[in-house]
Amino acid sequence: MGNPLNSNSAPIDPASVPQRRLYTGALMPAVGLGTFGSDSVSPAQVAEAVKGAAAVGYRHFDCASVYQNESAVGASFEEILRGGLKREEIWVTSKVWNDKHGEDDVIASCRQSLADLRLNYLDMYLVHWPFPNFHAPGCDVSSRSPDAKPYIHENYMRTWRSMEKLVDMGLVRHIGTSNMTIPKLKLVLRDARIKPAVNEMELHPHLQQPELFRFVVENGIQPIGFCPIGSPGRPERDRTPEDTAPTEDPVIREIAKRHGIGPAEVCIKWGVQHGQTPIPFSIHHYRENLACVTGDPLTDEEMRQIAALNRNCRLVKGQVFLWKAGQTWEDLWDMNGEISS
Ligand SMILES: NC(=O)c1ccc[n+]([C@@H]2O[C@H](COP(=O)([O-])OP(=O)(O)OC[C@H]3O[C@@H](n4cnc5c(N)ncnc54)[C@H](OP(=O)(O)O)[C@@H]3O)[C@@H](O)[C@H]2O)c1
Repeated sequence: MGNPLNSNSAPIDPASVPQRRLYTGALMPAVGLGTFGSDSVSPAQVAEAVKGAAAVGYRHFDCASVYQNESAVGASFEEILRGGLKREEIWVTSKVWNDKHGEDDVIASCRQSLADLRLNYLDMYLVHWPFPNFHAPGCDVSSRSPDAKPYIHENYMRTWRSMEKLVDMGLVRHIGTSNMTIPKLKLVLRDARIKPAVNEMELHPHLQQPELFRFVVENGIQPIGFCPIGSPGRPERDRTPEDTAPTEDPVIREIAKRHGIGPAEVCIKWGVQHGQTPIPFSIHHYRENLACVTGDPLTDEEMRQIAALNRNCRLVKGQVFLWKAGQTWEDLWDMNGEISS
Protein backbone atom coordinates (compact mmCIF):
# COMPACT_ATOMS: atom_id res chain seq x y z
CA MET A 1 0.00 0.00 0.00
CA GLY A 2 1.25 3.47 -0.84
CA ASN A 3 0.73 6.39 1.48
CA PRO A 4 -2.97 7.10 2.17
CA LEU A 5 -2.55 10.67 0.87
CA ASN A 6 -1.68 9.17 -2.49
CA SER A 7 -3.50 5.86 -2.61
CA ASN A 8 -7.08 7.09 -2.98
CA SER A 9 -6.45 8.68 -6.33
CA ALA A 10 -6.61 7.20 -9.78
CA PRO A 11 -3.34 6.36 -11.56
CA ILE A 12 -1.86 8.76 -14.08
CA ASP A 13 -1.39 7.41 -17.59
CA PRO A 14 2.42 7.26 -18.08
CA ALA A 15 1.82 8.07 -21.76
CA SER A 16 0.53 11.51 -20.68
CA VAL A 17 3.81 12.36 -18.87
CA PRO A 18 6.23 14.37 -21.07
CA GLN A 19 9.31 12.49 -22.29
CA ARG A 20 12.86 13.64 -23.08
CA ARG A 21 14.66 12.32 -26.12
CA LEU A 22 18.37 11.81 -25.37
CA TYR A 23 21.05 12.18 -28.03
CA THR A 24 21.04 8.38 -28.41
CA GLY A 25 17.38 8.49 -29.43
CA ALA A 26 16.23 6.89 -26.14
CA LEU A 27 13.17 8.32 -24.43
CA MET A 28 13.27 9.15 -20.70
CA PRO A 29 10.23 10.26 -18.65
CA ALA A 30 10.54 13.99 -17.84
CA VAL A 31 9.71 13.47 -14.14
CA GLY A 32 11.41 10.91 -11.92
CA LEU A 33 11.09 9.90 -8.29
CA GLY A 34 14.11 10.86 -6.15
CA THR A 35 15.05 8.19 -3.60
CA PHE A 36 17.38 9.97 -1.17
CA GLY A 37 15.73 9.55 2.24
CA SER A 38 18.62 11.27 4.07
CA ASP A 39 18.42 10.90 7.88
CA SER A 40 14.68 11.08 8.23
CA VAL A 41 13.14 8.57 5.81
CA SER A 42 14.05 4.89 6.20
CA PRO A 43 14.94 2.55 3.32
CA ALA A 44 11.66 0.71 3.95
CA GLN A 45 9.66 3.95 3.57
CA VAL A 46 11.50 4.86 0.37
CA ALA A 47 10.93 1.34 -0.99
CA GLU A 48 7.21 1.66 -0.20
CA ALA A 49 7.10 5.02 -2.00
CA VAL A 50 8.79 3.45 -5.06
CA LYS A 51 6.05 0.81 -5.22
CA GLY A 52 3.31 3.39 -4.67
CA ALA A 53 4.82 5.70 -7.25
CA ALA A 54 5.03 2.95 -9.86
CA ALA A 55 1.38 2.12 -9.15
CA VAL A 56 0.32 5.73 -9.80
CA GLY A 57 2.30 5.99 -13.04
CA TYR A 58 5.97 6.86 -12.32
CA ARG A 59 8.35 5.18 -14.75
CA HIS A 60 11.60 6.94 -13.79
CA PHE A 61 13.56 6.40 -10.55
CA ASP A 62 16.73 8.20 -9.44
CA CYS A 63 18.84 5.94 -7.20
CA ALA A 64 22.42 5.96 -5.89
CA SER A 65 24.60 3.60 -3.89
CA VAL A 66 25.29 6.33 -1.32
CA TYR A 67 21.57 6.57 -0.48
CA GLN A 68 22.09 3.23 1.33
CA ASN A 69 18.69 1.94 0.31
CA GLU A 70 19.27 0.32 -3.11
CA SER A 71 18.66 -3.15 -1.75
CA ALA A 72 15.23 -2.16 -0.32
CA VAL A 73 14.39 -0.25 -3.51
CA GLY A 74 15.50 -3.30 -5.52
CA ALA A 75 12.97 -5.48 -3.69
CA SER A 76 10.30 -3.01 -4.85
CA PHE A 77 11.55 -3.17 -8.45
CA GLU A 78 11.38 -6.95 -8.31
CA GLU A 79 7.78 -6.78 -7.11
CA ILE A 80 6.87 -4.13 -9.70
CA LEU A 81 8.32 -6.23 -12.53
CA ARG A 82 6.75 -9.42 -11.22
CA GLY A 83 3.45 -7.52 -11.17
CA GLY A 84 3.48 -7.11 -14.94
CA LEU A 85 5.53 -4.03 -15.86
CA LYS A 86 8.23 -4.85 -18.38
CA ARG A 87 11.83 -3.90 -17.58
CA GLU A 88 11.97 -1.63 -20.63
CA GLU A 89 8.95 0.30 -19.30
CA ILE A 90 10.91 1.70 -16.35
CA TRP A 91 13.92 4.03 -16.36
CA VAL A 92 16.42 3.44 -13.56
CA THR A 93 19.41 5.66 -12.81
CA SER A 94 22.14 4.90 -10.28
CA LYS A 95 25.44 6.60 -9.43
CA VAL A 96 28.97 5.68 -8.50
CA TRP A 97 30.05 7.22 -5.17
CA ASN A 98 33.20 9.24 -4.64
CA ASP A 99 35.28 6.51 -3.00
CA LYS A 100 34.78 4.22 -6.02
CA HIS A 101 36.39 6.28 -8.80
CA GLY A 102 39.19 3.74 -9.35
CA GLU A 103 38.99 1.96 -12.73
CA ASP A 104 38.01 -1.45 -11.29
CA ASP A 105 35.97 0.07 -8.47
CA VAL A 106 33.58 1.71 -10.96
CA ILE A 107 32.75 -1.66 -12.54
CA ALA A 108 32.45 -3.39 -9.15
CA SER A 109 30.25 -0.61 -7.78
CA CYS A 110 27.94 -0.78 -10.79
CA ARG A 111 27.66 -4.56 -10.41
CA GLN A 112 26.80 -4.09 -6.72
CA SER A 113 24.08 -1.54 -7.56
CA LEU A 114 22.67 -3.94 -10.17
CA ALA A 115 22.63 -6.78 -7.64
CA ASP A 116 21.00 -4.57 -4.99
CA LEU A 117 18.46 -3.12 -7.42
CA ARG A 118 17.80 -6.64 -8.79
CA LEU A 119 18.25 -5.53 -12.38
CA ASN A 120 20.54 -6.77 -15.13
CA TYR A 121 21.13 -3.34 -16.64
CA LEU A 122 20.75 0.33 -15.70
CA ASP A 123 19.29 2.93 -18.04
CA MET A 124 21.67 5.57 -16.71
CA TYR A 125 24.80 5.50 -14.58
CA LEU A 126 26.28 8.76 -13.27
CA VAL A 127 29.53 9.86 -11.67
CA HIS A 128 27.86 11.31 -8.58
CA TRP A 129 30.52 14.03 -7.92
CA PRO A 130 33.62 15.02 -9.87
CA PHE A 131 35.75 14.73 -6.69
CA PRO A 132 37.08 11.38 -5.43
CA ASN A 133 36.71 12.59 -1.85
CA PHE A 134 35.17 10.19 0.61
CA HIS A 135 33.28 11.37 3.65
CA ALA A 136 31.14 9.30 5.98
CA PRO A 137 27.39 9.40 5.28
CA GLY A 138 25.64 11.76 7.67
CA CYS A 139 28.81 13.65 8.65
CA ASP A 140 28.75 17.34 9.49
CA VAL A 141 29.44 19.93 6.74
CA SER A 142 32.64 20.93 8.57
CA SER A 143 34.04 17.40 8.11
CA ARG A 144 37.04 17.12 5.70
CA SER A 145 38.86 14.11 4.30
CA PRO A 146 42.66 14.28 4.78
CA ASP A 147 43.06 12.67 1.32
CA ALA A 148 40.73 15.12 -0.43
CA LYS A 149 41.85 16.23 -3.91
CA PRO A 150 40.68 18.88 -6.35
CA TYR A 151 39.27 17.94 -9.75
CA ILE A 152 42.10 16.33 -11.73
CA HIS A 153 40.96 15.83 -15.28
CA GLU A 154 43.25 12.87 -16.09
CA ASN A 155 41.89 11.05 -13.04
CA TYR A 156 38.28 11.87 -13.94
CA MET A 157 38.89 10.52 -17.45
CA ARG A 158 40.22 7.26 -16.01
CA THR A 159 36.94 6.96 -14.13
CA TRP A 160 35.06 7.92 -17.30
CA ARG A 161 36.85 5.18 -19.34
CA SER A 162 35.38 2.64 -16.91
CA MET A 163 31.97 4.27 -17.31
CA GLU A 164 32.36 3.86 -21.10
CA LYS A 165 33.38 0.24 -20.56
CA LEU A 166 30.12 -0.36 -18.66
CA VAL A 167 28.24 0.72 -21.80
CA ASP A 168 30.39 -1.64 -23.94
CA MET A 169 29.68 -4.45 -21.47
CA GLY A 170 25.93 -3.87 -21.77
CA LEU A 171 25.56 -3.21 -18.04
CA VAL A 172 24.37 0.38 -18.56
CA ARG A 173 22.60 1.99 -21.51
CA HIS A 174 23.79 5.56 -20.91
CA ILE A 175 26.33 7.38 -18.80
CA GLY A 176 26.24 10.86 -17.39
CA THR A 177 27.72 13.43 -15.05
CA SER A 178 26.50 15.16 -11.92
CA ASN A 179 27.50 18.30 -10.02
CA MET A 180 29.69 19.47 -12.92
CA THR A 181 30.62 22.94 -14.14
CA ILE A 182 31.13 24.33 -17.65
CA PRO A 183 34.97 24.22 -17.61
CA LYS A 184 34.98 20.61 -16.38
CA LEU A 185 32.33 19.55 -18.90
CA LYS A 186 34.24 21.18 -21.75
CA LEU A 187 37.20 18.90 -21.04
CA VAL A 188 35.01 15.82 -20.71
CA LEU A 189 33.27 16.60 -24.00
CA ARG A 190 36.68 17.03 -25.65
CA ASP A 191 38.04 13.71 -24.38
CA ALA A 192 35.06 11.35 -24.01
CA ARG A 193 34.54 8.49 -26.45
CA ILE A 194 30.95 8.19 -25.20
CA LYS A 195 29.70 11.62 -24.23
CA PRO A 196 27.45 12.20 -21.21
CA ALA A 197 23.75 11.88 -22.05
CA VAL A 198 22.64 13.83 -18.97
CA ASN A 199 24.05 16.17 -16.35
CA GLU A 200 22.34 16.02 -12.96
CA MET A 201 22.40 19.44 -11.31
CA GLU A 202 20.55 21.40 -8.64
CA LEU A 203 17.66 23.23 -10.34
CA HIS A 204 14.74 25.03 -8.74
CA PRO A 205 13.28 28.53 -9.10
CA HIS A 206 15.87 30.00 -6.69
CA LEU A 207 18.84 28.25 -8.42
CA GLN A 208 18.30 28.25 -12.17
CA GLN A 209 21.96 28.06 -13.28
CA PRO A 210 21.15 29.63 -16.67
CA GLU A 211 24.68 29.47 -18.17
CA LEU A 212 25.28 25.83 -17.24
CA PHE A 213 21.74 24.94 -18.30
CA ARG A 214 22.26 26.56 -21.71
CA PHE A 215 25.68 24.93 -22.11
CA VAL A 216 24.45 21.40 -21.48
CA VAL A 217 21.39 21.79 -23.72
CA GLU A 218 23.48 23.26 -26.54
CA ASN A 219 25.78 20.25 -26.26
CA GLY A 220 22.94 17.72 -26.53
CA ILE A 221 23.06 16.81 -22.82
CA GLN A 222 19.76 16.58 -20.96
CA PRO A 223 19.68 18.45 -17.61
CA ILE A 224 18.24 16.46 -14.70
CA GLY A 225 17.07 18.76 -11.88
CA PHE A 226 17.70 17.68 -8.30
CA CYS A 227 16.14 19.37 -5.24
CA PRO A 228 13.41 20.65 -7.60
CA ILE A 229 11.25 21.77 -4.66
CA GLY A 230 14.17 23.24 -2.72
CA SER A 231 14.67 20.15 -0.55
CA PRO A 232 12.43 21.28 2.34
CA GLY A 233 13.09 18.04 4.24
CA ARG A 234 16.92 18.23 4.26
CA PRO A 235 18.63 17.82 7.63
CA GLU A 236 19.52 20.82 9.79
CA ARG A 237 23.25 20.30 9.19
CA ASP A 238 22.71 20.97 5.46
CA ARG A 239 21.08 24.37 6.02
CA THR A 240 22.74 27.79 6.15
CA PRO A 241 21.18 31.12 7.16
CA GLU A 242 21.35 32.44 3.56
CA ASP A 243 19.23 29.55 2.17
CA THR A 244 15.86 30.49 0.74
CA ALA A 245 12.83 28.29 0.05
CA PRO A 246 11.20 28.47 -3.39
CA THR A 247 7.98 27.01 -1.96
CA GLU A 248 7.70 30.07 0.31
CA ASP A 249 8.27 32.56 -2.49
CA PRO A 250 5.19 34.83 -2.75
CA VAL A 251 5.27 34.66 -6.57
CA ILE A 252 5.26 30.83 -6.52
CA ARG A 253 2.49 30.83 -3.91
CA GLU A 254 0.37 33.24 -5.95
CA ILE A 255 0.74 31.08 -9.09
CA ALA A 256 -0.11 28.00 -7.02
CA LYS A 257 -3.28 29.63 -5.75
CA ARG A 258 -4.29 30.55 -9.30
CA HIS A 259 -3.88 26.94 -10.48
CA GLY A 260 -5.42 25.39 -7.36
CA ILE A 261 -2.26 23.41 -6.56
CA GLY A 262 0.54 23.56 -3.98
CA PRO A 263 3.77 25.59 -4.40
CA ALA A 264 5.85 22.39 -4.74
CA GLU A 265 3.80 21.42 -7.78
CA VAL A 266 4.42 24.84 -9.35
CA CYS A 267 8.17 24.18 -8.96
CA ILE A 268 7.81 20.81 -10.72
CA LYS A 269 5.60 22.17 -13.51
CA TRP A 270 8.11 24.99 -14.06
CA GLY A 271 10.98 22.47 -14.18
CA VAL A 272 9.31 20.36 -16.85
CA GLN A 273 8.18 23.34 -18.94
CA HIS A 274 11.61 24.95 -18.63
CA GLY A 275 13.21 21.84 -20.13
CA GLN A 276 14.84 19.90 -17.31
CA THR A 277 13.80 16.56 -15.83
CA PRO A 278 12.92 17.15 -12.17
CA ILE A 279 13.34 14.22 -9.77
CA PRO A 280 11.34 15.23 -6.68
CA PHE A 281 11.68 13.01 -3.62
CA SER A 282 8.44 12.26 -1.83
CA ILE A 283 6.82 9.64 0.33
CA HIS A 284 3.60 11.62 0.85
CA HIS A 285 3.01 13.75 -2.26
CA TYR A 286 4.33 11.73 -5.17
CA ARG A 287 0.99 11.39 -6.91
CA GLU A 288 0.32 15.11 -7.23
CA ASN A 289 3.94 15.68 -8.23
CA LEU A 290 3.34 13.54 -11.32
CA ALA A 291 -0.27 14.55 -11.97
CA CYS A 292 0.65 18.26 -12.05
CA VAL A 293 2.72 17.91 -15.24
CA THR A 294 -0.05 16.31 -17.27
CA GLY A 295 -2.28 19.32 -17.83
CA ASP A 296 -3.02 23.00 -17.21
CA PRO A 297 0.43 24.39 -18.12
CA LEU A 298 1.89 27.53 -16.59
CA THR A 299 1.31 30.53 -18.84
CA ASP A 300 4.14 32.32 -20.67
CA GLU A 301 3.69 35.20 -18.23
CA GLU A 302 4.00 32.84 -15.23
CA MET A 303 7.13 31.28 -16.77
CA ARG A 304 8.57 34.81 -17.15
CA GLN A 305 7.71 35.63 -13.53
CA ILE A 306 9.49 32.47 -12.31
CA ALA A 307 12.53 33.16 -14.53
CA ALA A 308 12.90 36.43 -12.60
CA LEU A 309 13.07 34.61 -9.23
CA ASN A 310 16.58 33.19 -9.66
CA ARG A 311 18.67 34.05 -6.56
CA ASN A 312 21.69 31.78 -7.17
CA CYS A 313 20.73 30.08 -3.93
CA ARG A 314 22.63 26.77 -3.95
CA LEU A 315 21.38 24.39 -1.27
CA VAL A 316 23.72 21.43 -1.91
CA LYS A 317 27.00 23.32 -1.55
CA GLY A 318 29.31 20.31 -1.19
CA GLN A 319 31.50 21.75 1.60
CA VAL A 320 32.71 18.27 2.63
CA PHE A 321 34.56 17.90 -0.69
CA LEU A 322 36.90 20.87 -0.13
CA TRP A 323 40.56 19.85 -0.30
CA LYS A 324 42.58 22.57 1.39
CA ALA A 325 42.35 25.03 4.26
CA GLY A 326 40.93 28.49 3.66
CA GLN A 327 38.55 27.48 0.89
CA THR A 328 34.87 28.23 0.68
CA TRP A 329 32.24 26.09 -0.99
CA GLU A 330 32.25 28.46 -3.98
CA ASP A 331 35.66 26.96 -4.90
CA LEU A 332 33.89 23.72 -5.85
CA TRP A 333 31.79 25.43 -8.50
CA ASP A 334 34.45 27.15 -10.66
CA MET A 335 32.69 30.50 -10.27
CA ASN A 336 35.33 32.45 -12.22
CA GLY A 337 35.13 30.13 -15.22
CA GLU A 338 38.29 28.15 -14.42
CA ILE A 339 38.74 24.85 -12.63
CA SER A 340 39.84 25.57 -9.05
CA SER A 341 42.99 23.74 -8.02
N1 LIG B 1 23.11 14.17 -7.90
C1 LIG B 1 23.15 14.68 -6.70
O1 LIG B 1 24.22 15.04 -6.18
C2 LIG B 1 21.87 14.85 -5.93
C3 LIG B 1 21.86 15.73 -4.82
C4 LIG B 1 20.66 15.88 -4.12
C5 LIG B 1 19.53 15.18 -4.51
N2 LIG B 1 19.58 14.31 -5.57
C6 LIG B 1 18.37 13.55 -6.02
O2 LIG B 1 17.30 14.47 -6.13
C7 LIG B 1 16.18 14.01 -5.37
C8 LIG B 1 15.35 15.18 -4.88
O3 LIG B 1 16.09 16.06 -4.04
P1 LIG B 1 15.69 16.30 -2.51
O4 LIG B 1 15.08 15.06 -2.01
O5 LIG B 1 16.86 16.83 -1.78
O6 LIG B 1 14.70 17.53 -2.58
P2 LIG B 1 13.25 17.85 -3.18
O7 LIG B 1 12.78 16.82 -4.09
O8 LIG B 1 13.34 19.26 -3.66
O9 LIG B 1 12.36 17.90 -1.85
C9 LIG B 1 11.90 16.73 -1.23
C10 LIG B 1 11.05 17.16 -0.02
O10 LIG B 1 9.90 17.86 -0.49
C11 LIG B 1 8.72 17.33 0.09
N3 LIG B 1 7.67 17.35 -0.93
C12 LIG B 1 7.68 16.67 -2.11
N4 LIG B 1 6.58 16.95 -2.82
C13 LIG B 1 5.84 17.82 -2.08
C14 LIG B 1 4.60 18.45 -2.30
N5 LIG B 1 3.90 18.24 -3.42
N6 LIG B 1 4.15 19.27 -1.32
C15 LIG B 1 4.86 19.48 -0.19
N7 LIG B 1 6.05 18.91 0.07
C16 LIG B 1 6.55 18.07 -0.89
C17 LIG B 1 9.06 15.92 0.48
O11 LIG B 1 8.28 15.55 1.59
P3 LIG B 1 7.29 14.25 1.58
O12 LIG B 1 8.20 13.06 1.48
O13 LIG B 1 6.62 14.36 2.89
O14 LIG B 1 6.36 14.36 0.41
C18 LIG B 1 10.54 16.03 0.84
O15 LIG B 1 10.72 16.40 2.19
C19 LIG B 1 16.84 13.16 -4.26
O16 LIG B 1 15.93 12.30 -3.63
C20 LIG B 1 17.91 12.46 -5.05
O17 LIG B 1 17.36 11.36 -5.77
C21 LIG B 1 20.73 14.16 -6.30
